[in-house]
Amino acid sequence: MAPNPALLLFPLLARAAITVYQAPGQAAFTASGSAAAAAYTGAAAYNPTTLVPPAVPSPAVPSSFNIQLQTGGTPGASIPQSGNFIGFSIEMSVSNQVLGKNATFIQVPFLNLMANIQQRAGSVRVRVGGNSQESATLVDASAIPDGKILQKNLTGVTGTTQTPPLEFSDELLYMMANISTMVNVRWFLGIPWFVTQPFNLAIVGAAERILGDNLIGYQAANEPDLYFAHGHRPSTYGPFDYFGEFSDLLTQLAASGDDPSGRAKTLMLGPSIADAGWTPEDVWNTGFVDTYNENLAFLSVEKYPTDNCAAAFNTGQPIIDPQTEFPSFLTHKAPTGLLAPYLNSTAFAQQKGKKLLMFETNTASCGGFAGISDAFGAALWGLDYALQMAHSNFSGGMFHVGGQNVFYNPFTSPPTNQSTFHQWTIGPMYYAALVAAEAIGPSNTTQVMDLNANGGNEFTPGYAIYESGNPVRVALFNYITDPTGTSDVTAVISVAQGSAGGGGATPTQVKVKYLQATSVSQKGSYTWAGQTFGGNFESDGRLTGTEDVQTVPCDTTAQTCSVKVPAPGFALVFLSDAAQTETEGAPSTTFSTTALTKTQNTATIQASVLATSNGHGGPSDPLNANQQLGSTSRGSKSGAVGLRPGLALLVSSTALALGAMLVGRAVVVR
Ligand SMILES: *[C@@H]1O[C@H](CO)[C@@H](O)[C@H](O)[C@H]1NC(C)=O
Ligand SMILES: *[C@@H]1O[C@H](CO)[C@@H](O)[C@H](O)[C@H]1NC(C)=O
Ligand SMILES: *[C@@H]1O[C@H](CO)[C@@H](O)[C@H](O)[C@H]1NC(C)=O
Ligand SMILES: *[C@@H]1O[C@H](CO)[C@@H](O)[C@H](O)[C@H]1NC(C)=O
Ligand SMILES: *[C@@H]1O[C@H](CO)[C@@H](O)[C@H](O)[C@H]1NC(C)=O
Ligand SMILES: *[C@@H]1O[C@H](CO)[C@@H](O)[C@H](O)[C@H]1NC(C)=O
Ligand SMILES: *[C@@H]1O[C@H](CO)[C@@H](O)[C@H](O)[C@H]1NC(C)=O
Repeated sequence: MAPNPALLLFPLLARAAITVYQAPGQAAFTASGSAAAAAYTGAAAYNPTTLVPPAVPSPAVPSSFNIQLQTGGTPGASIPQSGNFIGFSIEMSVSNQVLGKNATFIQVPFLNLMANIQQRAGSVRVRVGGNSQESATLVDASAIPDGKILQKNLTGVTGTTQTPPLEFSDELLYMMANISTMVNVRWFLGIPWFVTQPFNLAIVGAAERILGDNLIGYQAANEPDLYFAHGHRPSTYGPFDYFGEFSDLLTQLAASGDDPSGRAKTLMLGPSIADAGWTPEDVWNTGFVDTYNENLAFLSVEKYPTDNCAAAFNTGQPIIDPQTEFPSFLTHKAPTGLLAPYLNSTAFAQQKGKKLLMFETNTASCGGFAGISDAFGAALWGLDYALQMAHSNFSGGMFHVGGQNVFYNPFTSPPTNQSTFHQWTIGPMYYAALVAAEAIGPSNTTQVMDLNANGGNEFTPGYAIYESGNPVRVALFNYITDPTGTSDVTAVISVAQGSAGGGGATPTQVKVKYLQATSVSQKGSYTWAGQTFGGNFESDGRLTGTEDVQTVPCDTTAQTCSVKVPAPGFALVFLSDAAQTETEGAPSTTFSTTALTKTQNTATIQASVLATSNGHGGPSDPLNANQQLGSTSRGSKSGAVGLRPGLALLVSSTALALGAMLVGRAVVVR
């Protein structure tokens, strides 16, 4: 089939009159209380557990503090950063749930979620890989039944994360290529590394052929420091062995014919260690970076602050209690503590002219924690973490996306057999990624600096964001949950001309966008400048609601701008109109799932299922008072975007005529 730019939003099987009286895996819980949560047996991605927010700190945080910024360059600011800083790491085994089913059936919500980031950052980096890449085998499409593009071989399940071997066809790569024609997604893939004699390099050959320049890096081993623990190498396996395998890879690649242009051998990425026994220095000290200088496009590490493996996989280790763990995420010490061990490596990378990526990360490995990874606190944590990585001279971080059985997903497609009546669920980590893209913006020259704000108070961190050495935006956090308002804080911002010039002056007014929820425990329906992706199963990947950007007049006598940050909440302060338009001024290129009108939803879903299907008490829950669940009628919120039949995005040469008819409604193409 010849590539054709004509795009058609096509209702696949607008199935009539589906009557579902119990959403699977959502059985019989009626409130957000712990008893209901304890009784919940459905998929982790919709677990209703709601934790108690940490107590208001005592003594109280100082309620007002000064932020003095200067123009013309500020010592200690980061290396230049790109707005695509935060990308996504999609577990290969769920790529057919997240990206699409095949190259002609692409998930519209995924396109929209990527388009939102592209609008702010220019592009999005997505890695397809993870544990499941290690044994992934490229097979002929005919070897996988039912027209699927990948299948798990459940007879070969191994390791702590019980990852089944994968078989995939090149249709997966065509699907990725087709996505890149619609949104500016650049991809990372991984080379299977369990077996090195010989390496299976088929994925490289196919990716070079099908993805070309849209493929920006090949991961050379995933968490090799865990290979012994997971039974894939002998106990003696160390950094020098990895160094040697990397050499074998290059030798075999050169002889394989899978890198005809010689491009792939310059796009390697490693060592992606998981901080499980090897330090990054252990690898640097082998001479890895100098020896493979011409091959390494990026350096990489992977890190989760903690893990939920004991509970998730019954490992016999002590089970970590999420309620006990919750406060450790709600402090600036979380990202600074996590990243401190890497500062030597980011300095080393700079010295070697390399970019260091946090290639896979999230709240906790083995799926995250119910009530932490899927609550508003994780949005604040993820955003603080993103900006702290930027400040620390990482060159990007990839938030991991798993399947239905994890808590930490930035976004989750509905279970396959619910896709005709449910939309996607957008988690707090996606909000963090979106706001980070907007905070950094598309210039590629942005610098980020931790301000040690409010006397270094751990609950109210702040960052300055610079372009050409001049402050353009300020990012302010408040981790505290305090409905009384007593813990709201006010940042008093002023801008002065630095010794190197820059013509600094405090603006006469600033614009402010807030990321908000009523509590760090809130699940779903967070707002970014008043807009939201809703609760469980409610999003087509586009923000809904009216954007609400606050204008804050400054005190022109005192030369200060006072910006309040609610407890809890985050404020992005734009110091000029240009500072705002550069980072959200690009045209929105969303993919409308309402492009065809003859797809009125006829599903009927038992009201009580709807009331609980977002994982908590529904509209009567005080934490979710603004939630509009329970309606399947056309014109209402959930009728319009939440309950559409499954939609296919069809790319085909025969779609031209209809595609042209739709141009006015569905705005597509980057
Ligand atoms: C792609 O997937 C859709 C939905 O499952 C299916 O209807 C279609 O036949 C598939 N296309 C190909 C070429 O397999
Ligand atoms: C989209 O995928 C199909 C394979 O199903 C392929 O024939 C076509 O060339 C792809 N289009 C692009 C632009 O890659
Ligand atoms: C599935 O995995 C088992 C164990 O690794 C292997 O023996 C078998 O050949 C695999 N089956 C297929 C169809 O690949
Ligand atoms: C920093 O990394 C370099 C390169 O691996 C190493 O030689 C040096 O000892 C490290 N310094 C510290 C303080 O760890
Ligand atoms: C980041 O790199 C810049 C430029 O080299 C440097 O001034 C700054 O101290 C570094 N930041 C950290 C946290 O290491
Ligand atoms: C969906 O699949 C699950 C798991 O296979 C099953 O338990 C459930 O009954 C199915 N639900 C529907 C509506 O088909
Ligand atoms: C930023 O960098 C990307 C990747 O190198 C490039 O495609 C893009 O054009 C750059 N943007 C600007 C504004 O220079």
